[in-house]
Amino acid sequence: VLKQSITSKAQKENKGYGNYVQPQASYKVAILGASGGIGQPLALLVKMSPLVSELNLYDIANVKGVAADLSHCNTPSQVSDFTGASELANCLKGVNVVVIPAGVPRKPGMTRDDLFNINANIVKTLVEAVADNCPDAFIHIISNPVNSTVPIAAEVLKRKGVYDPKKLFGVTTLDVVRANTFVAHKKNLRLIDVDVPVVGGHAGITILPLLSKTKPSTTFTDEEVQELTVRIQNAGTEVVEAKAGAGSATLSMAYAAARFVESSLRALDGDSDVYECAFVQSDLSELPFFASRIKIGKDGVEALIPSDLQGLTEYEQKALDALKPELKASIEKGIGFVQKKA
Ligand code: NAI
Repeated sequence: VLKQSITSKAQKENKGYGNYVQPQASYKVAILGASGGIGQPLALLVKMSPLVSELNLYDIANVKGVAADLSHCNTPSQVSDFTGASELANCLKGVNVVVIPAGVPRKPGMTRDDLFNINANIVKTLVEAVADNCPDAFIHIISNPVNSTVPIAAEVLKRKGVYDPKKLFGVTTLDVVRANTFVAHKKNLRLIDVDVPVVGGHAGITILPLLSKTKPSTTFTDEEVQELTVRIQNAGTEVVEAKAGAGSATLSMAYAAARFVESSLRALDGDSDVYECAFVQSDLSELPFFASRIKIGKDGVEALIPSDLQGLTEYEQKALDALKPELKASIEKGIGFVQKKA
């Protein structure tokens, strides 16, 4: 949206569009789990992207109608539907970005880890197909528990001999979106200006907003830090409880995932100024995977940004130390799940 408003400003300034270059719609995106609560609004938002030429929608059920519906929007991408395992390979051929929101969401009282047994198998199966059909694609994992499903995906790709750590991303954008929204409201800042890096992982206390690194530079009382940190960590549960059994965050998640897709496509398209937070293979801590701000380029993660982790407040440092055992266990659980399989 930001990019589009910049574009229209550029259009106006160029009076008559003389120097304006329309972004080329030339990228192919697949969404696996496309008829779900996240999948449908995400498919709509990706359908609006000027960079997408083909949008492939896959699910085990109900995807035909979603694709027929979306295909009537007069935006560049061609929408195709794929139903069930026998159509998965065709869905993935030649794809540049694969987004995976397939799996079950939380109900009240559940943690993300409670989803492990079902979603671990789903992610394993889907990533095996990605490895076989589009091993060079960027892979965006949304299915929870992200702290374990990303290590699962990495192990699957390693077994298939196609693991490129620069192209595997756990989508934590929603944590940043929430942090930006809550901080802007609390401090009366313009939403568009606020950027809070969120590091660690994507579950409970492993979600660590670094409020001291908020841009624009902002001061918080100890009480505000405590209140905002806990709210950002529990924001998913806020939605699960409000939906009272009907699922977890879908619309805000789709918004966040679409932002991450658009950032990835801009990076693929040669934009050299693309930064997002994501849960990726990392050497910024002693853990093998860690969410931090990253620079994304044509080949995936171009750089991890260590500066956010320097000069932490005492509160942040304690929270970082406290999250590591849980995050480590979730990562090991994911790795162990694949390694136990024959
Ligand atoms: P949903 O139940 O509404 O949709 C899931 C979709 O996945 C359904 O259409 C289902 O048919 C499909 N599916 C199930 N097994 C499949 C398979 N083997 N292959 C392809 N598709 C399959 O759930 P919702 O609300 O869309 O959530 C999806 C996942 O995203 C959940 O695991 C949830 O915990 C996670 N999530 C992640 C967030 C994040 O920040 N990373 C935020 C919110 C949810």
